[in-house]
Amino acid sequence: MAIRSLAYVIIDSADVEGWRSYGENVLGMQAFDHGDGIRLRMDDRPFRVQILKGAEEKFHAAGLVYADKPDFDAGIARLRAAGVALELASVDEAKERHVREFVRCTDPSGNRLELGWGNIVDGKPFVSPQGVPGFITGEMGLGHIVFPAMKLAETRAFYVDLLGFGDSDEMRAYFQGGGPDDPGVGFHFLHCDNPRHHSVALGEFPAPSGLIHMMVEVPGLDDVGRALDRAMAAGVHISSSLGKHMNDKMTSFYMRTPSGFDVEYGCGGIQPDWKTFTPTISLKEDEWGHHWNFGA
Ligand SMILES: [Fe+2]
Repeated sequence: MAIRSLAYVIIDSADVEGWRSYGENVLGMQAFDHGDGIRLRMDDRPFRVQILKGAEEKFHAAGLVYADKPDFDAGIARLRAAGVALELASVDEAKERHVREFVRCTDPSGNRLELGWGNIVDGKPFVSPQGVPGFITGEMGLGHIVFPAMKLAETRAFYVDLLGFGDSDEMRAYFQGGGPDDPGVGFHFLHCDNPRHHSVALGEFPAPSGLIHMMVEVPGLDDVGRALDRAMAAGVHISSSLGKHMNDKMTSFYMRTPSGFDVEYGCGGIQPDWKTFTPTISLKEDEWGHHWNFGA
């Protein structure tokens, strides 16, 4: 009854046109009008990222899905038994998300989740306007998200004990140089019921927009390099240079979205066999690269 994958992410933004251009010209996804906002398509799911027109830049919700109805029912029963407040969405709301059913809840740090089941596809092919050959999705979901989690231990326990996630890695990162005045920040990297190294990670620091970053994965280094070229040509802030992470071996760069959080655009993430995997505790973030420029 573990969560199968990260199915979608929903963002509130005042800058829908900024997102349209960013989605099509930088990310290489297809943008479609939807209500006052847009949907971004990156595979056979009708959308993976939805931008709702809003007054401010704010993470709205992440959609996590169970594989099927029995898993969903068992997962929801477990959350109820633990006293987690759940709000069942209407049939129309579920249709809008392209799932059969979902409930809304928040994790102990206040991150908004939609837990659902049912993968409703429309048979239309993904055709990237930038020639991206495809994104690595399918059963592994859209990629990963990193949430702010000021209640780090309690929030990790929520994902592990109630949603069925497992530990992949934990780490303390020192963004201020690691001197005596730098206490570092804690991270937990968690996998669910698919081979992606982590679908959710938790970082012990606040994020103004409500999201630290989301990651999308492409087949090869050339696809990452071309995205970096497009980002630089579009004047997008590059938050981190190209680098290779220690834990998931992802080669990636980070860039700012119109909503202020980052997108990590990478390739080559490992896909461990969870039956034989031993969680790691990483003493550094990267094998090389990932030089940060947090900017304004
Ligand atoms: Fe990441």
